[in-house]
Amino acid sequence: MAQVIGVPKETAAGEKRVATVPEAVEKLIKLGFKVMVQSGAGDGANCSDETYRAAGAEIADTAEKLWSSSDIVFKVGVPTPEEAGLLREGGVLIGFIWPAQNPELMQQLAARKATVLAIDSLPRMLSRAQKMDALTSQAGVAGYRAVIEAANAFGRFFNGQITAAGKVPPAKVFIAGAGVAGLAAIGTAAGLGAIVRANDTRAEVADQVVSLGGEFVKVEYEEEGSGGGGYAKVMSEGFQQAQREMYAKQAKEVDIIITTALIPGKPAPKLITADMVKSMKAGSVIVDMAAERGGNCELTEPGEAVVKHGVTLIGYTDLNSRLAKQSSTLYATNLFRLAEELCKTKDGVINVNMEDDAIRGLTVIKDGEVTWPPPAPKLPAPPPAAAKPAAPAAKKGHGHGGAGAPASTRSMVVIFALAAVLFWFIGANAPAAFLGHFTVFVLACFVGYMVVWNVTPALHTPLMSVTNAISSIIAIGALVQVAPPFAAGAGADRPDGWILGLAVVAVALTAVNMFGGFAVTRRMLQMFRK
Ligand code: NAI
Repeated sequence: MAQVIGVPKETAAGEKRVATVPEAVEKLIKLGFKVMVQSGAGDGANCSDETYRAAGAEIADTAEKLWSSSDIVFKVGVPTPEEAGLLREGGVLIGFIWPAQNPELMQQLAARKATVLAIDSLPRMLSRAQKMDALTSQAGVAGYRAVIEAANAFGRFFNGQITAAGKVPPAKVFIAGAGVAGLAAIGTAAGLGAIVRANDTRAEVADQVVSLGGEFVKVEYEEEGSGGGGYAKVMSEGFQQAQREMYAKQAKEVDIIITTALIPGKPAPKLITADMVKSMKAGSVIVDMAAERGGNCELTEPGEAVVKHGVTLIGYTDLNSRLAKQSSTLYATNLFRLAEELCKTKDGVINVNMEDDAIRGLTVIKDGEVTWPPPAPKLPAPPPAAAKPAAPAAKKGHGHGGAGAPASTRSMVVIFALAAVLFWFIGANAPAAFLGHFTVFVLACFVGYMVVWNVTPALHTPLMSVTNAISSIIAIGALVQVAPPFAAGAGADRPDGWILGLAVVAVALTAVNMFGGFAVTRRMLQMFRK
């Protein structure tokens, strides 16, 4: 018999998310389940009862009806004692539970002989589990929203602009902590045109920061910050001191700070002191995403947006609910993917297979028996410590392909060998006239490659304008028409009148392009100078 998946209306104050959306309902039904949604559950996420009904769900008028009719309940927020009391004896509950923080809830659910899958306990390092990783999907949305909140509170543009009314410098954004939320914030702020800098104690994220358009700012203190499993560890006092100095410098320079630093199971590290807030320019904004766990900034007030020392401090703990439709859609997909894993037979009946690493990690209570914490997951061995610094160095082009990167070194050698053979072949066989042009072509490719690849993405717009200016070299063609080369001798024919006219016009236009291009480039570059 097909099991019923029930989706109640969230009861936490201000929570607008819902655990499934109509598109996911259709997919769950295809897996063989029946779906029941409490009336009004999706209102906050723009999903009306009608849309759920159209997708094939049944609508329950009350929470009691919903909980008592459901074999499996999909939830977002941690259930209240009242909600846990409504779960059917022996029922299945899937959602955020945070078992370490909620021991009483765990006891209450165990007493109901429940099976509970805590989506927050998913072993995140298993690549197979990524499609179910609701912490990641939600943190990504929250990181995006943090930037939007900052932009809303900030009184200026994010991108630099040259307008008729004057020049606007780009906003400078500093992101503390480049985990899931931090990386989403970097991408969003860079997309809006800001100059983005970021710092994290885990050096391995530096490349990701750069690939999203940010600049990684290092703490000048040698200490490895990775605590394993993709999480950070608490750093030494010496490191923290050096980090505070760097953060104090950034606070003076930037307009917006977004803090996302988190060490699992520990209070949020205090990274932004009251003095740093005081040193920021008036009108600056701090979004403290860690507000719920005490905040990364000393002056944050959780859940509030306050102005202190002329700086807006945003400590909202409901960033996901502020983007309820997007958060719900991604969360619904995470839970659908989990349902797929639980119901491989596609017959609408789940099998909580404790042999499966991902399912084992998620299952915090099985048939009334507390199974949390799970045994340590078998993680891939971390790369040897010595190899780590070598990798980024090689990527930046300063390395010499040591033993640390054998595969890429080997392919480089093969490419160079092939290129050498090809050049020898062309050199030995091609006519002399061709060789001259070919040499210029190869050199041009090489110089072009070196120039473009060494320019940071933020400077690509000025780069385009300067190359545009340089392209005006075609003016030489027109100049030759206007004044034929002396080599042609005094008796050389002057061009026809209309060719001469066209050449003069061409010289004038390319001159505008050339001087204008260089002038615009200069002004653009000025915006990036401190
Ligand atoms: P994550 O674990 O992926 O990232 C945290 C990052 O902080 C890691 O890269 C870690 O290396 C770094 N970090 C730790 N200590 C640091 C230090 N002292 N200095 C610099 N970097 C440090 O976590 P995720 O998922 O990105 O979440 C970030 C924060 O956002 C968490 O506190 C989470 O609770 C919060 N959050 C807040 C929401 C809201 O509505 N306000 C919604 C979703 C998440």
